[in-house]
Amino acid sequence: MSKRTIVALPGDGIGAVVLDEAIRVLDAAGFEAEYVYGDIGWEFWCREGNPLPQRTLDLIARHRVALFGAITSKPNDEAKAELAPELQGKGFTYSSPIVGLRQHFNLDICVRPCKSYKGNPLNFIRRGKGNTIDEPLVDVVVFRQNTECLYSGVEWTNPPANVYQALLSHPKFRDNFADVPVEELSVSTRIFTRKATERILMAAFEHAAKFGYKSVTVCEKPNVVRETSGLMWKLAKEIQKERYPSIRLLNTNIDAQMMWLTKNPEDYGVIVAGNMFGDIASDAFAGLIGGLGFACSAQFSSDGIAVFEPTHGSAPKYADFKVSIVNPIAMIESACMMLDYIGEKKPASVIRKAIADVIREGKVRTYDMMKMQGRPEVIQNGAASTTMMTDAIIEKLNK
Ligand code: NAI
Ligand code: MG
Repeated sequence: MSKRTIVALPGDGIGAVVLDEAIRVLDAAGFEAEYVYGDIGWEFWCREGNPLPQRTLDLIARHRVALFGAITSKPNDEAKAELAPELQGKGFTYSSPIVGLRQHFNLDICVRPCKSYKGNPLNFIRRGKGNTIDEPLVDVVVFRQNTECLYSGVEWTNPPANVYQALLSHPKFRDNFADVPVEELSVSTRIFTRKATERILMAAFEHAAKFGYKSVTVCEKPNVVRETSGLMWKLAKEIQKERYPSIRLLNTNIDAQMMWLTKNPEDYGVIVAGNMFGDIASDAFAGLIGGLGFACSAQFSSDGIAVFEPTHGSAPKYADFKVSIVNPIAMIESACMMLDYIGEKKPASVIRKAIADVIREGKVRTYDMMKMQGRPEVIQNGAASTTMMTDAIIEKLNK
């Protein structure tokens, strides 16, 4: 069989570091692939005025599956200042390449599993009866709509006249904002479409049915955000009734969910939400299983493009450490999600078992697992480096 081709998108900072480590694990687990590297990130913004060059989009379009590290984004003024002198003043504006990638390929389904590993000192615990300590197993999968909502980029400060007139046609706007000078108005729109909302809901229900989760929870705010959250809740009820009557459908408000997940996280299975609340919910659940060092994700389009990435960013403050200290597990787990997707079940399960074994044994732990401040000295103080953690995982493969 010919080797699979995977597009590797290192990006910036620790993104590039953890991607290399994940590929090392994939190789060691016997997954045979050719990696073609794509340009993305800050360097290409500065040099070319585009952090997501067309050649990278072409590469992904051709090979369909990508592993992505992380990128660095900076505020507009810094982005302008760091642009190559010959490109300055030529109308280039920075926008996040990962958001661009999601929109370009319509990667509208984002899946973020949050499952605790036994023995992870960062696992959520709570006080039980008689001062005992409970450590409930968290096994939640967040389905985040990935292209719409507050991330659609349809927003204005000092909106143009036609937009302002349209706003004025809404009675609530007239009652509450008509006195505000237009130049003092900032508006970000929260757009949900029926099609994309149905797709994320269907993906959530399908996943629950396939993997035996008992409930799907819509985590929005339909009592207040009546049109968009309301649409998701209405469609969820229809889908559940017509197609998945045996799966329980729950409705939690995002604010209340943030409280409940620290009381009874074991009661949740699949969570589904729009882009913004899905981002919040997945970070919050990730916090219960060890935080960003453990938070992996997958993103899918409807036509067979898939991008796998840790949910963390480029952590620039650690990027220049001589010995990298960051936890590679989120990236390695994301690579396992890629293996699941392309049907490579054996290496996926072997790698996951190796990660579980290393964590349960507790001999090799990165600084975050030791609750240390991220400094170069953590290695002298007993924390594993990024490479040491990867080596430990590789050593456990097939054991
Ligand atoms: P970040 O995720 O890069 O780092 C936040 C903190 O989380 C770090 O300081 C570190 O304490 C911890 N952390 C992150 N990854 C870790 C790992 N693998 N192991 C151990 N600890 C880890 O987020 P931050 O600082 O808000 O953003 C830094 C840059 O990354 C920004 O330019 C931002 O725009 C970008 N970013 C990119 C994302 C992406 O590529 N998808 C996502 C989030 C942020
Ligand atoms: Mg990322």
